[in-house]
Amino acid sequence: MLAVVTGGAGFIGSHTVDRLIAGGHHVVVLDDFRTGKRANLAQHAGNDRLTIVACDVAHGIFAALAPVTAKHGPVERIVHLAAQVSVVHSVDNPLTDMQVNYGGTLHVLEYARAHGVKKVVFASSAAVYGDVVEMPVDEDTPRRPVSPYGIDKLASELALDYYAAVHGVPATWLRFFNVYGPRQDPGSPYSGVISIFADRARAGRPLLIFGDGGQTRDFVYVGDVVRAIVAALGDGNSRVVANVGTGGEITVLQLARTIVELCGNKSTIDHAPMRAGEILKSRARVDRLRDALGIVAETSLVDGLRETLR
Ligand code: NAD
Ligand code: UD1
Repeated sequence: MLAVVTGGAGFIGSHTVDRLIAGGHHVVVLDDFRTGKRANLAQHAGNDRLTIVACDVAHGIFAALAPVTAKHGPVERIVHLAAQVSVVHSVDNPLTDMQVNYGGTLHVLEYARAHGVKKVVFASSAAVYGDVVEMPVDEDTPRRPVSPYGIDKLASELALDYYAAVHGVPATWLRFFNVYGPRQDPGSPYSGVISIFADRARAGRPLLIFGDGGQTRDFVYVGDVVRAIVAALGDGNSRVVANVGTGGEITVLQLARTIVELCGNKSTIDHAPMRAGEILKSRARVDRLRDALGIVAETSLVDGLRETLR
């Protein structure tokens, strides 16, 4: 199978590529390397089952894929992960965020329609729900995003549903909760909290919590997320949406304390004001992930944190 992974040089993307190549597939990575790194794919150097093409998906993917398909045949599946991923960055830069995230999805869907791609799997987000009071959140909860990022993920979901219904492009979209694990880049203030806390705690530097730390998140290990992506790539489940989380939640303060403890050093925990556009609570109902895709997250937070720190 020839599979395209947009954003394949990033955190979740590179783990997805590892899994697809291990499964014997030919993988084409489309990435513009704005946050992704070639080093995340260095383990496949010299493997002719991986093709890496530098491409901004928000400017279209037809030209980038033409030479590859001329050589290897048609694209059968697309995992669409390329995006600007920070909620806070989207609040500060809504135009870029919408252009890249929603625009990129439309270009992927136009390609899939024109070339009869057999499945598009899209990385949506818990951010589509917005601030929900009742936990856990199931997939039928009204979607009321409170950030540009949540709005563009919701717009992308609607576009996928439209292309599936009207143009017959099979699509499954997954609402990832807070994904963490090795290769998540701590290099920017917009990075995922576990990557930042792990980086600081390892160096004995202070951890900074935005707000009182009472906000909760459902942290899911990247290995479990990749299993869900690969399951969704199969035939069937078109127009199905599933949360991808563990079904548990932890406060950011508990998380900070756990990471400091696992590192065995004396980082202090400081506080700054809460950031705009952020949600207070997040925990996934995961029944559909199990029933439709046969996936249950298996990695406990402590095991996943140990692996990340290692
Ligand atoms: P990441 O930043 O590591 O990966 C994103 C990748 O997309 C990078 O390699 C980046 O260079 C690439 N990219 C960005 N814009 C691009 C463009 N216009 N053209 C081509 N490539 C582009 O982040 P990640 O955590 O691996 O996120 C992957 C996907 O999962 C994103 O769609 C994100 O919104 C979604 N998601 C992530 C989380 C999480 O907790 N990490 C949760 C929910 C959803
Ligand atoms: C994350 C993802 C987003 C995804 C969403 C799904 C990243 C960067 N963001 O957003 O793509 O769609 O989950 O649920 O991967 N925090 C601190 N100190 C820090 C950094 C963060 O206290 O140094 C707090 C934040 O204020 C927030 C929590 O940690 O309350 C999580 O923040 P973050 O990792 O940025 O993720 P989300 O905004 O939840």
